[in-house]
Amino acid sequence: MVASLISVSIVPIELSEKEDVSIYLSSRILKKWNIKTNTVIHLKIGQKTREALIKSAEVPSTELQIPDRFLMEFAMPTYSGKYLIKYSSQSRTITVGRFIGLLTDLQIDEENEPDFRSVHAFCEELHHGISGRGGFFSVFSLQDLSNEFIKGYYFKDGKWVLGELPIPSVIYNRIHSRKLEYQDLFLQFYEQVVSMDIPFFNHRFLSKWEVYSLLIKEEYMHPYIPKTKIFSKESLREFINKYDTVFVKPIHGSQGRSIIKIKKEEDYFSIQSSVMPASDNSVKKDTIEAVLQHLKKILHNRIYIIQQGIPLADYQSRPMDFRVLCHKNVQNLWEVTSLIARISGEKQFVSNIAQGGEIMKPLSALSAFFNKENSLDVISLMKELSVEASSILSSHSAGITGELGVDIGIDINGKLWLIEVNSKPSKNFEDHGLKIRPSAKAIINFGTSLAFNTFLEKEEQ
Ligand SMILES: Nc1ncnc2c1ncn2[C@@H]1O[C@H](COP(=O)(O)OP(=O)(O)O)[C@@H](O)[C@H]1O
Ligand SMILES: [Mg+2]
Repeated sequence: MVASLISVSIVPIELSEKEDVSIYLSSRILKKWNIKTNTVIHLKIGQKTREALIKSAEVPSTELQIPDRFLMEFAMPTYSGKYLIKYSSQSRTITVGRFIGLLTDLQIDEENEPDFRSVHAFCEELHHGISGRGGFFSVFSLQDLSNEFIKGYYFKDGKWVLGELPIPSVIYNRIHSRKLEYQDLFLQFYEQVVSMDIPFFNHRFLSKWEVYSLLIKEEYMHPYIPKTKIFSKESLREFINKYDTVFVKPIHGSQGRSIIKIKKEEDYFSIQSSVMPASDNSVKKDTIEAVLQHLKKILHNRIYIIQQGIPLADYQSRPMDFRVLCHKNVQNLWEVTSLIARISGEKQFVSNIAQGGEIMKPLSALSAFFNKENSLDVISLMKELSVEASSILSSHSAGITGELGVDIGIDINGKLWLIEVNSKPSKNFEDHGLKIRPSAKAIINFGTSLAFNTFLEKEEQ
């Protein structure tokens, strides 16, 4: 059976205590689904299922009428809203959706409006995108899930309101803190979500070493991956002897923080850190031993990778690379949602925006090196490489992955290099002029396919 989604408004109706719980749909929909009026069906809202009598009524074919006290059992805020419904004749269940939830780290505060930090504006877009075409969006933290409902925020009349809400049918993980994802609280939440059969994406932060180890398993990716090892005395000696430039990066780092570049000069080594404000903060050391002593002081006890430095193509003498945002589409295949160039700040050697980098259209950024035709070829190759890397990572890592941000460098000879892949990519690179960014649409589509389990199927409009 091809399950189709129908767009309806849920209209709460009043019902006296004595009456049976009946829900009403138009005879057109009942006929389409082959449901007899006055029979018992299951109604699933969020993760909760209840029995109800279904009746056909002289209601518009765009309405699903549900008694308000019945809606309360589902922890539904009792206002009419647009939803999508699907019927399974096998289980005799009408599923109302899509309930998409976003998990992040926040303190519930009854008094004030919440702050979802780097995803605050994105959450508003997700709300508009979901409610506009049918569904309900909520934001919550690890503490907020019970067996009956989730305590979280939903967007109403222009602000985020706290409520006891339906448990979502799919959860998008945007926890900001890597540490939090290693704590019991996260593991317990994840176990609970799995036991409730709720799809959960993206599973968690990936470390730089995990990304490298997974990608390197595929032989055909080798030409695109800079040589990488876990940092140690031995690997430092080996890399400094082999390469003109070496990068040292924390495996759990992000936003270009705490990155060290070591460059071999004629008769000394220069060591530079990605500090802000950017400056020529380089330190000179004569021997590898002296480099090691210096690094010991600044690396502390964190785990680092050491990586072959790539002589990145530059834009007006500022090194650049590219951020390719990828999502899984409704066919469960990876595709590119956006691609931009990032130009490092003055005197900086990392291109991250947090360290003074600027974004630019890829064609303009490439224009100093390539003519338009070659630039277009390079861009298609970057897209292919990103889709390939995303497929490998998502199929080899635990849990569900629906979104990845791939950093690609291009060297002065025009060769592409995969610098890293992020499982919690920033959304700040897209066009802010748009009401709903392409990545918000991509997340909604992927979430919807997971919620209704309808990959490959099209929504009925
Ligand atoms: N091996 C390398 N060669 C040249 N530049 C690099 C290399 N590794 C990192 N960089 C520069 O540093 C930036 C940040 O590195 P990245 O590995 O993406 O860490 P982060 O997680 O902090 O973004 C890259 O976007 C790039 O500009
Ligand atoms: Mg990066």
